[in-house]
Amino acid sequence: MSKLTVNGYTRKDKISKEIYGHFSEHLGRCIYGGIYVGEDSSIPNVNGMRCDVVEALKEIKIPVLRWPGGCFADEYHWKDGIGPKENRKKMINTHWGGVVEDNSFGTHEFMELCRQLECEPYINGNVGSGTVQEMSEWVEYMTFDGVSPMSELRKANGKEDAWKLKYFGIGNENWGCGGNMRPEYYGDLFRRFQTYVRNYGDNVIYRIACGANIDDYNWTEGVMKVASRFMNAITLHYYTHPLGWELKGSATKFDNDEYYMTLQKTLRIDELISKHLEVMDKYDPEHNVDLIIDEWGTWFTVEPGTNPGFLYQQNTMRDAIVAAINLNIFNKHCDRVKMANIAQVVNVLQSVILTEGDKMIKTPTYHVFNMYKNHQEATLLESKIETENIGTPFIHVCNLHESASISDDGTVNITVTNLSCTDDYPVEAELIGINKDNITATILTDKKDAYNTFENPDVVAPKEFKDFKVTDKGIDFTAPACSVILFTIKQ
Ligand code: AHR
Repeated sequence: MSKLTVNGYTRKDKISKEIYGHFSEHLGRCIYGGIYVGEDSSIPNVNGMRCDVVEALKEIKIPVLRWPGGCFADEYHWKDGIGPKENRKKMINTHWGGVVEDNSFGTHEFMELCRQLECEPYINGNVGSGTVQEMSEWVEYMTFDGVSPMSELRKANGKEDAWKLKYFGIGNENWGCGGNMRPEYYGDLFRRFQTYVRNYGDNVIYRIACGANIDDYNWTEGVMKVASRFMNAITLHYYTHPLGWELKGSATKFDNDEYYMTLQKTLRIDELISKHLEVMDKYDPEHNVDLIIDEWGTWFTVEPGTNPGFLYQQNTMRDAIVAAINLNIFNKHCDRVKMANIAQVVNVLQSVILTEGDKMIKTPTYHVFNMYKNHQEATLLESKIETENIGTPFIHVCNLHESASISDDGTVNITVTNLSCTDDYPVEAELIGINKDNITATILTDKKDAYNTFENPDVVAPKEFKDFKVTDKGIDFTAPACSVILFTIKQ
C-alpha cells in the first residue's frame, strides 16, 4: 500500500494558469487546416477559425497561445501577413517541409483566434533574421493607440483600437535555428532588441528571453549573466524522444522498454528545471526572472505516409501519462515556473487535437488537460506519495506520481498517475485538514498504446471513478495500471 499525503493546511504558491498553455507554429497542419480554414471553407468556422477546434480548446480553458514559432518565428516577417490577403507575399517555409506559406494567417487572424479562445496571446518576435526596427514596429502596430505610422497602418487594415499584448518573446532557439548564436552574443542582442519593445499606454510587455535546450546550463548562465535585469522570464525547451533525437521511435508501436524509457526521459524535466533555476539564482537571487517551458512534449517519428516536415504523430495513453507527469511537475515548481506551452496544439507533435478534413478528435493528452484544468490559478498544496521503482532491469521509474491544489472556491484537486503499464497499485491517501464529505473522481485509463482515431474517437476517454473508499483518514483506492485519476473534493 503506497501512502499519499495531502496537507490542506500547507498552502504554497498559486499555480499560474499559463502553465496549461499551448503552442501553435506555422508548421504542417497546425495553423492551416487545423485551426484556420478561411472564411470560405465548408468546414464550420467563424472568421476562418474552425468552430469545433475553438470549442474544444475553450472547454479545456486554454489560457495562453504562443505563435508564430518555433523556428518559423525567426524567419517570419510580420508585415507580409497584414493587409488584403491577395496582396500578401508568399514565402517558403524552409524549416517545415519547404511548402509555400501564403501568409493568409497573420497578426489580425492570430489576435482574432485569441479573442475567440478568450486566451492571452504570446507572440514570438524575430531576432535571427529580423531587425530591431521590425520588432519595434510590430509591437507599435499591435499595442499603440495614438497617432503613429504603425497605428495608422493597423487602422487602415481595419483595427481601430490597439490590442492588449502581454507576452512577447525575443527570439526562439537562438542557439540553433534562430541564428546559431553564442549565449553572450544573444544576451547582448536581447538587451538591444528589448529596448525598443515599448510599453505603450497601459500595455506592459512581459519580456521573454530565449533560454536553453535541455541541459545546456552554459546557455542559461551566459544569457542570465549579460541580460537578466532586462527580462521578465527566460525559457527552457525539453522534448521527450524515447530513442533519442535521431531515431525518436514510433508514436503507437512500442514495447515496455520503450514505454518506460519515454517516462524516464519525461521525468528528467524535474531535475532540468531545478538545475536551470539554480543557475538563474546566481544572477537573480531575488527571483525577478521567471522560468517558462514554452516547448515540451513527446516527439516521435512521423506517422507513416505523412510529410516528414509536418511532424504529425498519433497520441496514445503513453502521451497521457507523459502529460500528467509534466503537469504535476510544473505544478510543484509553480513558485518559479509561470508558463508552459505543450508542442503543439493541433496536428503537430504531442497535440491535444487532431483533424482530418472536417473531422476532429480529442487525444488522450487533451483529456488530461481537461482533467487538470481546475489546477489553473489554484493554490498548490503540500503533497507527497511513497513510491517504489518499477520498469525493466535497466530502466527505472517511480510507480506513482501526484500533485494537489486548492481552488479559490475551496475545491481540492488531487491528480494521481500510475506509471506502470502492467500493475495496479493500492493507495492509502491521508487528507489533512480536508473535509471528506463530497468527493468525486474521474479516471483516464487504457492499454499503454491505446489511441483515438477518426473512426473510433472515444476509445480513450475519461470516465467516472467510483472505486474508492472514504476512510477516517482520507481515501483508499487502487490506481489501475496506466491511469490518470482526478479527485475533486468540495469543501
Ligand atoms: O516544435 C517544433 C520545433 O522544435 C520548433 O519550431 C523549435 O523551436 C523546436 O526545435
